[in-house]
Amino acid sequence: MGITRLIRELGGRVDANSGGEIEVALRAGFSPDDIVFTGVGKTGAELELAVRLQVHAVNAESRGELERIDELSQAAGVRTRVALRVKPDVAAGAHPHISTGQRSHKFGLPLEEAEVVFRWAAGRPGLHLAGVHTHIGSQLLDLAPLRRAGEVVAAFAMRLREDGIELEHLDLGGGLGIPYDGAESVSPGAYASSLVEAVKSTGLTLVVEPGRWIVGPAGALVTRVVDVKQKDVGRYFVVVDAGMSELLRPALYGANHRLELPAPRPGEEVRCDIVGPICETSDVFGTDRPMPLPVVGDLIVVRDAGAYGSAMASNYNRHPLPAEVLVDSGVPRVIRRRQTVDDMLALEI
Ligand SMILES: Cc1ncc(COP(=O)(O)O)c(C=O)c1O
Repeated sequence: MGITRLIRELGGRVDANSGGEIEVALRAGFSPDDIVFTGVGKTGAELELAVRLQVHAVNAESRGELERIDELSQAAGVRTRVALRVKPDVAAGAHPHISTGQRSHKFGLPLEEAEVVFRWAAGRPGLHLAGVHTHIGSQLLDLAPLRRAGEVVAAFAMRLREDGIELEHLDLGGGLGIPYDGAESVSPGAYASSLVEAVKSTGLTLVVEPGRWIVGPAGALVTRVVDVKQKDVGRYFVVVDAGMSELLRPALYGANHRLELPAPRPGEEVRCDIVGPICETSDVFGTDRPMPLPVVGDLIVVRDAGAYGSAMASNYNRHPLPAEVLVDSGVPRVIRRRQTVDDMLALEI
């Protein structure tokens, strides 16, 4: 919530992926017109919420979903702004688990089907066709696929215009990539220019979803060494008190985060497997990382944990969620207190 407020103060808006994210955005001070509602499986209750609030646009995934929005809107006597998510069939070049814009992916509709659905939707009294939406994947470190997707979607919007369907915006993602190895990232300026170049001939407003890059590099997970033991000659297991319950990405899709000792420790570098305490063999933050051998009590910092760390955290093995601290100009402020066992059990009857 603290981070969401900060994004609002900085002039950002919201790409919400559930009713819960819409509610958080409202409580953080956003207005419904600041919110686009995306998501591959919106429930009836979530659609009702979006229609009642009249969000900026619902990014619909299928003809069936548009039918449900149309019905709810007519019953409420409103016309809901919608965009249709299309698959431009462009490979984003990132990990398969975070690529979203190819024919085989579950998100949205292929272009030829989308064209038919747009024509049908143009006549529905509960729908206001506002835009086309596409997202080709996360972690874009090469902008060529994004530009290609922009061109495909721009050409699609022009075809619709020739059919008399005039849209207002193009909502385009692909999120900017975080170089988790600490290398230079693609600049937001280059990201913006490649999209603008691709779509400016349409004259339509551009809505962008730069994604995790906004918050990921700002966050670090600070964890403490609780055990050290030998694995092999010159190789060690360093067991820390955080694991996949606090940062799931390494176990989920083999993500590699930089792991650093904040206080220099003397001694030769050895190879360390930094592992969590969870009862899963995949609960490993890094393998064969060269560093001076830490001792119990040392801190280890997991870098670039500001995106999909807290959001994907769980109480697996009954680990209470850690505190979250926002450091602004060197001043620390707790923005979420540490979870207690009572908090963890509060919902149990
Ligand atoms: C529409 C949309 N926006 C954003 C994201 C997440 O992007 P990122 O990982 O860059 O934060 C996804 C991921 O699938 C998505 O489909």
